[in-house]
Amino acid sequence: MFLIGFRGAGKSSIAKELAGQLGWTWIDLDTVLEAKYGRSIRAIFEQEGEQGFRDKERELLEQVAVRDAHVFATGGGIVLDPVNRDRMREAGWVVWITADTATLWQRLQSDPATGERRPPLTVGGRAEIEALLRIREPLYQQCADIVVDTVNRLPAEIASTIREKLSELNKRVEG
Ligand code: S3P
Repeated sequence: MFLIGFRGAGKSSIAKELAGQLGWTWIDLDTVLEAKYGRSIRAIFEQEGEQGFRDKERELLEQVAVRDAHVFATGGGIVLDPVNRDRMREAGWVVWITADTATLWQRLQSDPATGERRPPLTVGGRAEIEALLRIREPLYQQCADIVVDTVNRLPAEIASTIREKLSELNKRVEG
């Protein structure tokens, strides 16, 4: 199962919680990528540009997507590549984790990982979130089997909602 959505949506905390509830393994693709290349995402962006990072991200997804009983927390830009979108849709359920711009901005500002790990993508700040969401929302939408809002909700609640929605979907598919 793949959790997609913008930076700050809560993909990693929800992946961890959901995997715990399901007895599955969870993986944060950005963390695995940093370990694989021994550099922070920020450093990869600085040294090889965004395209260098996107190539590595695509290759990593190809390697891991086939694993069963895994919840993958993906990077916010993974949906930009049509190969990634097809791969996720073929390999498992895709869950779009959402929040409004103000909430995303607030979370990003208070997350210590932002400075160390998240390279600026364009102009930074709220304007960056608004501009990128205009481009990415249709792509998240295109990929997602279900959509789950996270505003004012805890990871445990959100994970339960995802499980309920997926069991409905599974019933429909099997039925
Ligand atoms: C990116 C989001 C980041 C990371 C990279 C690019 C993006 O992941 O993959 O900095 O393009 O939105 P998070 O969504 O986990 O912050």
